[in-house]
Amino acid sequence: MYLITNSIADAIFLALFLILCHKSFATPTMLNVMDFGAKPDAKTDSTAAFSTAWSSACGDINPSTIYVPKGRFLLKNLHFSGPCSNNTITIQVDGTLVAPLDYNVIGNVGNWLIFEDVDGVSIRGGTLDGQGAGLWACKMHGSNCPSGATSLGIWNSKNVEIIGLSSINSQMFHIVINGCQNVKLQGVDISASGNSPNTDGVHVQLSTDVAILNSKISTGDDCVSIGPGAMNLLIENVDCGPGHGISIGSLGKDFDEAGVHNVTVRTVRFKDAQNGLRIKTWGRPSKGFVNNVVFQHAIMDNVQNPIVIDQNYCPGNKNCPGQVSGVKISDVTYQDIHGTSATEVAVKFDCSKSKPCDQIKLENVTLSYQNHAPKALCSNAAGTTTGRVEPTSCLV
Ligand SMILES: *[C@@H]1O[C@H](CO)[C@@H](O)[C@H](O)[C@H]1NC(C)=O
Ligand SMILES: *[C@@H]1O[C@H](CO)[C@@H](O)[C@H](O)[C@H]1NC(C)=O
Ligand SMILES: *[C@@H]1O[C@H](CO)[C@@H](O)[C@H](O)[C@H]1NC(C)=O
Repeated sequence: MYLITNSIADAIFLALFLILCHKSFATPTMLNVMDFGAKPDAKTDSTAAFSTAWSSACGDINPSTIYVPKGRFLLKNLHFSGPCSNNTITIQVDGTLVAPLDYNVIGNVGNWLIFEDVDGVSIRGGTLDGQGAGLWACKMHGSNCPSGATSLGIWNSKNVEIIGLSSINSQMFHIVINGCQNVKLQGVDISASGNSPNTDGVHVQLSTDVAILNSKISTGDDCVSIGPGAMNLLIENVDCGPGHGISIGSLGKDFDEAGVHNVTVRTVRFKDAQNGLRIKTWGRPSKGFVNNVVFQHAIMDNVQNPIVIDQNYCPGNKNCPGQVSGVKISDVTYQDIHGTSATEVAVKFDCSKSKPCDQIKLENVTLSYQNHAPKALCSNAAGTTTGRVEPTSCLV
């Protein structure tokens, strides 16, 4: 009798032990969007299914993975909002997320897909198809069109990783990182037609510690655009073109504006791009600034403006009193940059009259134009050169 009781107690103890072990070594909760009613047929609206899967993941006290299998999932605007009960949420995508063909459905809201107030989300794989061609055509014909949605917005978030994602044919920007800290994009592949309007590849603003690594961007506007308040930004091993280059700006549209500080762009290749390495500011009063920027190891292949600082941006020449930019640009280094310019002026530093550029450094920069030496133009730009520099520097 005693023995039997004892072994029952043992069995109960063992069962409890196994349950506890199972909890503490819990594998992440796996949430397949198909189990929530999503359909990979490109025509059933899967928005509610994705939204419920997100609520479930975000409310789970254990780490969770949302799984999107192969196929095309039609989605309208979707808001993945936090904060969540457990920060470790992975979204593993084997399939394609498709926006509605009618651009009006998502085109009047800022973002098609947005993550806001999350900490620790990781997005792996997948393709976003913004189906933007209809909206681009509308804009090019100057009709009454919605402004369009960014395909993927990451707002006010921390510790986000986006790995191996593709984005095609966004209506407006492909990816926007706004108000974030510690975001890594790696192996991202972005494409849209070279004449699609406002389809910036990745836009970063008001964010610190952002890295864009090992990625390919060909699109109709800037490959990467860097807005006010970007700090500690690293862009490495990126191919750009067609596109409008890697651009710091436009800055200085507003008077009270955060500056751009500590940006490194290295090992980048530009092909058939409108610009290579660009800094662009409005010709308007502003407290903004740009400093501590390093552009190194870049190859230019048929680029219209390989190296350019333009502080006289003022579309339509409207609302730019005196056409003078208040943005102070200093400490910008260009090292080991080679290749071909598609225009005669390969280097242009057109700086502000009231806040001249200073500490511009050129080291081993050689560019050619139709097999002869191109030109460099400077106004209000001071700095130094080291090593071989062609075109001959015009810095004072
Ligand atoms: C998230 O889950 C992990 C693993 O189970 C756990 O260690 C961690 O404490 C959880 N975080 C929160 C905020 O519950
Ligand atoms: C500048 O940014 C890089 C990331 O590109 C970071 O590793 C470094 O610590 C930053 N430097 C300073 C002084 O904050
Ligand atoms: C510039 O070229 C010189 C001579 O080839 C080399 O020693 C130096 O390391 C180069 N600097 C950079 C930043 O590439």
